[in-house]
Amino acid sequence: MKKLRSREWFDNPENPDMTALYLERYLNYGITRDELQSGKPIIGIAQTGSDLSPCNRHHLDLAKRVRDGIRDAGGIPIEFPVHPIQETGRRPTAAIDRNLAYLGLVEVLHGYPLDGVVLTTGCDKTTPACLMAAGTVDIPAIVLSGGPMLDGHWQGRLAGSGTIIWDSRKRLAAGEIDYEQFMQAAAASAPSVGHCNTMGTALSMNSVAEALGMSLPYCGSIPAPYAERGHMAYETGRRIVAMVAEDLTPRKVMTRPAFLNAIRTASAIGASTNCPPHLIAIARHAGVDLTLEDWQTHGHDIPLLVDCQPAGRFLGESFHRAGAVPAVMAELLKAGKLDGDAITVTGKPIGPILEKVPEPNREVIRAYAAPLKPSAGFLVLSGNLFDSALLKTSVIDADFRARYLSNPNDPDAFEARAIVFDGPEDYHHRLNDPALNIDENCILVIRGCGPIGYPGSAEVVNMQPPDALIQRGILALPTMGDGRQSGTSGSPSILNVSPEAAAGGGLAWLKTGDTVRVDLKTRRVDVLLPAGEWEARKASELPQPSIPADQTPWQQLYRQTVGQLQTGGCLEAATAFHRVAAKGGLR
Ligand code: FES
Ligand code: MG
Repeated sequence: MKKLRSREWFDNPENPDMTALYLERYLNYGITRDELQSGKPIIGIAQTGSDLSPCNRHHLDLAKRVRDGIRDAGGIPIEFPVHPIQETGRRPTAAIDRNLAYLGLVEVLHGYPLDGVVLTTGCDKTTPACLMAAGTVDIPAIVLSGGPMLDGHWQGRLAGSGTIIWDSRKRLAAGEIDYEQFMQAAAASAPSVGHCNTMGTALSMNSVAEALGMSLPYCGSIPAPYAERGHMAYETGRRIVAMVAEDLTPRKVMTRPAFLNAIRTASAIGASTNCPPHLIAIARHAGVDLTLEDWQTHGHDIPLLVDCQPAGRFLGESFHRAGAVPAVMAELLKAGKLDGDAITVTGKPIGPILEKVPEPNREVIRAYAAPLKPSAGFLVLSGNLFDSALLKTSVIDADFRARYLSNPNDPDAFEARAIVFDGPEDYHHRLNDPALNIDENCILVIRGCGPIGYPGSAEVVNMQPPDALIQRGILALPTMGDGRQSGTSGSPSILNVSPEAAAGGGLAWLKTGDTVRVDLKTRRVDVLLPAGEWEARKASELPQPSIPADQTPWQQLYRQTVGQLQTGGCLEAATAFHRVAAKGGLR
């Protein structure tokens, strides 16, 4: 077995004074010198839970079982905090903290005597932040997901995280419910500890982490309060100790074939629109070449197999009981859409693991040959307004299709009059202004919401129509923007537009009243103007200033260093450090 890096801190007779200094303070709460010098691996537990992070708070309890597993397998656990990232509580947006938590975790994994680490994940950005850091530092690492909340119920129906909010705000606008009922519905969707119970970004990203091979089978979806979740915590703790002995590092697991497996799995589960930027960011920090075009090439033709909100009906508990990620991956493997040779944290390839998976509950997880929707992955769009944007095809419903995609001569395209908003405040302020004359022939556009503009990139593109339209039964308009949207939203928006307006992207010059053509067949979105006029407008008119002042030092640093959503919204300078790790420099 290769020498443990923790030995350099705790057992270096050639440098007794530093060894003494490194060692003595860890004795002061009861660890003995014998333990620290025994040659046992020191295993970090990267704790993302806290009172500030309710989605992950359950990890404070699960960590006890992780410790038991580490101890029983012959390791020494050391738990430490990760910068909190609470999706719903963080202003201006939690996205800005993904890269901050990443930076902090890299420093901890590199700078302290840790031989391996259990990454506790859950709420949206906690999973990519942890995996990005694991990719950079490349010490043995395993994901322990916290699991979704139990299924919520309100008025006799399932109430899914986030999704119930988007539905209820329309019902509020239509006058069907009042403020009090709106709050009751929201509360009912959060019935236990755990993260969002819809196939939003949290459940998607934890499923994707499992599909990547970075957690034990079924880890991504066990509901947080289930006994199995505690069992999984224990087994994960046991397994990381063996991974250290095997020197099974993240970059041996997170290979390009594993990322393509993750893309296909994401498409089949109807994953969040946040998955492409997060997965690209993880890949870039792990030194793997992965682009948005890979989502089109490898993901778009995959059918929707999982009937979960927001693309379908069910929630996390049903998904887990039906067979979860392994059942979905087994379908993909049988259809020849998965690389079965990809190694997972088990140390074994995924293929043989999937061959033992039982038949799923077909009401929730469909067979590849009998899917909920064919070709349901993301569409990657481009055009004269932007280099790239995403559209989640699995959430295009019959109503939207009938309204916008049913012209017999042009069935995959529509044209709409742009209504342009500068950020969410402007949208909320002006949406119901009768002077805008918004009708069903409009596309709502929001700009100033990207990584630099907001900062962090806001989840706001799933804009709802004006109240008057909702009252007439028009519940959705086409939308487009340089921000993101919640993974719990079922809106078929054109989002993650890159480059964003604040970085000189085309949306900066778009005007209310312009005609926008969306063609899903050619994958193009263009503003229709007489020849030369768009170029002339861009050459002669300065875009609207859309960057508010930095409110904190981190906002300033973030804006100076962040890339666009197309390439993962990374701290660009940090993406080169996988090379340092490859030369042994970060070990
Ligand atoms: Fe944390 Fe959805 S808000 S998981
Ligand atoms: Mg979100």
